[in-house]
Amino acid sequence: MDRRAFLALAPALLWAPDTPAAIDARRRRRLPRGEETLPVIGMGTWLTFDVADDYEAIQRRRAVLQRFFAAGGGMIDASPMYGRAEWLLGQLLPELPHAGRLFAATKIWSAFDSTGPRQLDDSLRLWRQPRLDAVLVHNLLNWRAHLRTLRQARDAGRVRYIGISTSHGRRHDDVARLLRDEQLDLLQITYNLVDDSAEPLLHLAAERGVGVVVNRPFDAGNLFHRVAGRTLPNWARDIGCADWAQYFLKWIISHPAVTCAIPATSNPEHMDQNMAAGLGRLPDPAARGRMREYLRRL
Ligand SMILES: NC(=O)c1ccc[n+]([C@@H]2O[C@H](COP(=O)([O-])OP(=O)(O)OC[C@H]3O[C@@H](n4cnc5c(N)ncnc54)[C@H](OP(=O)(O)O)[C@@H]3O)[C@@H](O)[C@H]2O)c1
Repeated sequence: MDRRAFLALAPALLWAPDTPAAIDARRRRRLPRGEETLPVIGMGTWLTFDVADDYEAIQRRRAVLQRFFAAGGGMIDASPMYGRAEWLLGQLLPELPHAGRLFAATKIWSAFDSTGPRQLDDSLRLWRQPRLDAVLVHNLLNWRAHLRTLRQARDAGRVRYIGISTSHGRRHDDVARLLRDEQLDLLQITYNLVDDSAEPLLHLAAERGVGVVVNRPFDAGNLFHRVAGRTLPNWARDIGCADWAQYFLKWIISHPAVTCAIPATSNPEHMDQNMAAGLGRLPDPAARGRMREYLRRL
């Protein structure tokens, strides 16, 4: 994105003075359809919440969720593809105070038309929710049938927002076509410091009034391996990054088309670090360019 386009999209959001209201505005983004806002850092559950029959591991996930909500978190992303993640969320959520802030997001993932409605029923039961906040078609699989199912579910008040998800740079041409041709509320896609191939789709989503949820923000943890043993450069601290997690996440959420990023963790301390990325300064376009170049040279 060139500097002019970037400035046009969200200048107030990025360079507002550090008043409490401005800081709060930076922590949350409005979903393009509707007045609702979401915290800029959400939470993924792939692998990290696929846990059962292990007391210690479950206690750790409870602590992860506790810290997520304590830091103002709301959006949790799951899928029927993530093993026991939806079940575990349904077990833990009623025990944890979240003051109505939960934004429950899951997916339909099936090659068969008839499985879609059943997966939706299963997700509502597993999450123990009367309705789901967002349901997306996972990897665009059988999207025609499942978008139909989701529209019906939205009309029936069982789902609030619908959309599509993809990852790893897959099917971007199809995503562009669906953004143009279908009325979607949300797109979930991979976008991070080593994979910015979704950049044109972020612009298209903004144009079409579609919210963007960013998956794999740490490239499934590989970004941390890339910087292992390296201290954060001083200039990164000067632009508001206290650690590498903030460096990776602030680069993503400073893109004005991004609604939220959904890092996954099984570690309560990592959750604190990740949530802190929703606070304080965000890099401007020049700083974003520097951050990317620095990382690519490592
Ligand atoms: N729609 C799709 O097709 C699709 C595809 C992929 C992912 N997703 C969604 O996006 C979410 C995120 O993607 P992801 O799980 O692939 O990867 P990710 O969030 O990019 O990375 C997760 C990895 O980073 C590590 N990590 C997290 N915070 C850390 C921190 N502060 N310091 C050091 N390490 C940290 C985690 O290990 P620890 O547990 O040790 O913290 C984990 O190994 C998924 O969970 C899922 O909800 C969707």
